[in-house]
Amino acid sequence: MKNIIITGGAGFIGSHVVRLFVNKYPDYHIINVDKLTYAGNLANLKDIEDKPNYTFVKADICDFETIMGIFKKYNVDGVIHLAAESHVDRSIKDPFTFAQTNVMGTLSMLQAAKLTWENLPEKWEGKRFYHISTDEVYGALEMTNPEGIKPPFTTKASSGKHHLAYGSKFFTEDLKYMPHSPYSASKASSDHFVRAFHDTYGMPTIVTNCSNNYGPYQFPEKLIPLFINNIRHRKPLPVYGKGENVRDWLYVEDHARAIDLIFHKGTIAETYNIGGFNEWKNIDIIKVVINTVDRLLGRKEGEDMNLITYVTDRAGHDMRYAIDSSKLQRELGWEPSLQFEEGIEKTVKWYLENQAWMDNITSGEYEKYYESMYANR
Ligand code: NAD
Ligand code: TYD
Repeated sequence: MKNIIITGGAGFIGSHVVRLFVNKYPDYHIINVDKLTYAGNLANLKDIEDKPNYTFVKADICDFETIMGIFKKYNVDGVIHLAAESHVDRSIKDPFTFAQTNVMGTLSMLQAAKLTWENLPEKWEGKRFYHISTDEVYGALEMTNPEGIKPPFTTKASSGKHHLAYGSKFFTEDLKYMPHSPYSASKASSDHFVRAFHDTYGMPTIVTNCSNNYGPYQFPEKLIPLFINNIRHRKPLPVYGKGENVRDWLYVEDHARAIDLIFHKGTIAETYNIGGFNEWKNIDIIKVVINTVDRLLGRKEGEDMNLITYVTDRAGHDMRYAIDSSKLQRELGWEPSLQFEEGIEKTVKWYLENQAWMDNITSGEYEKYYESMYANR
């Protein structure tokens, strides 16, 4: 029996990782440690909450004593650490919370793992601390090819209709960290702590840096679920700046599959970049989302293009993110399984079929927050 803590398991990506592990590994005991902030939602895990190999513990990763207690109680062998504050716009308004959760919270998890494991007779043997990070730590890439060029990578996913790169440089694992937002600065700092625990104490750690995820259960402050919901209600779609910024998008279940593979087969102390080989300008993705929502709601395709509303740009808005995940492809044989057109179709369908999930979140406190965010734009 392996006892594995997954932190942030009630959030977007965490819930997919918990689901995958609980269903795929009946011999593992999965302990989901989550504070249930505004972003944590146990409704994301309804389908697995009664499984015998699953336990939910409501706890704050910054609360070191409680985390130590969880390590002791459950005889923990491994950690997959996803709990974090994750939204760039919130980090611009409130950087302290990001430093607290992302830096101090990660340190608290590391220290609890260290104090527990180093005193065992077998020490680090069979143990693993896997930290989930973001490509945003590398900073922004230039957009040298605004019209797009054929990218140097091929995968099943990148053989789709849209298959462009907007620059000749990509994020590789050996790039210097150059974070620009309080969010990415806090994630960069947490990555450094994880590596320091390997280099100083010999803790078996792994770090992965992933591109933008999309799919079911994403909190509707992020671009894709926010826009799907706004189109449904015919509310304006706030496009930052000119909508020219480029992101690399990965379907969340493909990320969860990569996490499973790397947790089991990845090399200790290594970093792996995870990406979709799938660059899109925001405005192009927004048009695909509008067309898909319109079609699935039985409206005329493109009828809601007039909802596009250009608003003041995000402060320090990174121009382009583009991951080179060929190391992961080469060494562990992972590649994304879905072409973006398929992924976005599945995603839009899911949000339209799960309106109660969305309505639960978007009423009440969140509505007030959202209105205040956009009051000055
Ligand atoms: P999310 O905001 O949807 O979920 C975060 C979860 O962490 C929530 O369940 C929340 O309750 C929990 N949490 C927050 N603070 C906590 C605390 N102090 N103690 C315990 N739990 C706490 O985030 P997500 O999008 O699922 O991202 C998960 C991880 O993946 C993050 O570390 C993020 O940096 C990283 N990541 C996300 C993306 C993306 O596109 N969403 C891409 C790359 C990496
Ligand atoms: P987001 O989903 O916040 O992810 P990240 O900032 O981590 O990449 O945003 C994705 C892109 O969409 C980013 O370039 C900002 C842009 N964006 C908008 O134009 N309007 C919005 O309302 C949001 C939330 C994002």
